Amino acid sequence: MAGVRPGWRLNQGGQHKPMTYQIAVLPGDGIGPEIVEQAVRVLQALPIDLTFQTAAVGGTAYDAHGHPLPPETLALAKSSHAVLFGAVGDWKYDQLERALRPEQAILGLRREMGLFANFRPAMLFPELADASSLKPDLVAGLDILIVRELTGDIYFGQPRGIRTLSEGPFTGDKQGFDTMHYAESEIRRIAEVAFQAAGKRGGRLCSVDKANVLETSQLWRDVVTDVAKNYPGIELSHMYVDNAAMQLVRAPKAFDVIVTGNLFGDILSDAAAMLTGSIGMLPSASLNASSQGLYEPIHGSAPDIAGQGSANPLATILSAAMMLRYSLDAGVLADRIEAAVADVLAQGLRTADLADDSTQPVSTSEMGDAVLKALK
Ligand code: IPM
Ligand code: MG
Repeated sequence: MAGVRPGWRLNQGGQHKPMTYQIAVLPGDGIGPEIVEQAVRVLQALPIDLTFQTAAVGGTAYDAHGHPLPPETLALAKSSHAVLFGAVGDWKYDQLERALRPEQAILGLRREMGLFANFRPAMLFPELADASSLKPDLVAGLDILIVRELTGDIYFGQPRGIRTLSEGPFTGDKQGFDTMHYAESEIRRIAEVAFQAAGKRGGRLCSVDKANVLETSQLWRDVVTDVAKNYPGIELSHMYVDNAAMQLVRAPKAFDVIVTGNLFGDILSDAAAMLTGSIGMLPSASLNASSQGLYEPIHGSAPDIAGQGSANPLATILSAAMMLRYSLDAGVLADRIEAAVADVLAQGLRTADLADDSTQPVSTSEMGDAVLKALK
């Protein structure tokens, strides 16, 4: 599974390895607690000294503490080597003002921890090729990596707001506005990360932008092109985001690594995830400059199935593997988790999201049991 293993670390310096790593466990809402529980069990079964500290996040934190990202939770996350994150969100919080909605927890953690580099692999386990909505031969063996910039762009740009227009054809109307911007060094650092990731994989990097329309994208393209001079072995291409969306569903295997900004990366990574047909399988990592990271499944909180014990814990378990590789300097243990996941799939075990009519689905904890048993 090269997809989850670009084999790259942000801090290249030879730091002292701590004896014990502290993991902040933030289960969150919906199915978050159930899936995180299984990932913690898997981590606890490995020969590495970890301490786990749990804190509230998302709607659950709002209910208990009046804020989706309470100060104690943020402090715990910042002081830990890594964060294991479940999911946040529930329709029942949709009426809250934006600053108090569950999504603000994940945005706040990204901003406050400086988690600018987001790795979203989309790969297809051979056993699951039929789960894709695309023809199996288009996706069989798919292994692409989206490197999404995560702390800039229109997500965080100021000014933003809703104002009342005092001139022009829409005078008197309310107008919503946001600001897209990227500083040169923000583009440079994510480009460096992406080139290095491409160097550990297929050696091809596609930078996605909208340079035919947007100034932000023009600078993005110029800077990425400049960074490429330091990576002569990597084949760089540029693609407009609309075309990239089209190519992702036309010939996804043509991609190796994609690097893009926050907004385009949000959209393209959902499309890429769907190609695999098994969104319940895909992990992610969000890293800062000192390899502190937040690890989460890319699927959401699925409140409709929360508490039933039917959710697929594998994306969270694979996120724990990414944690071992990127933040805890334990790539060998990550390999063991990934091999165990491949093993349980080969045995035919499927949670409800993956099961077809002929397969009796296993529960969340049964899947966790099976991974534990398959750990060599
Ligand atoms: C994601 C999510 C978030 C985002 C939401 C929950 C704020 O869609 O991680 O892709 O837009 O980044
Ligand atoms: Mg998204």
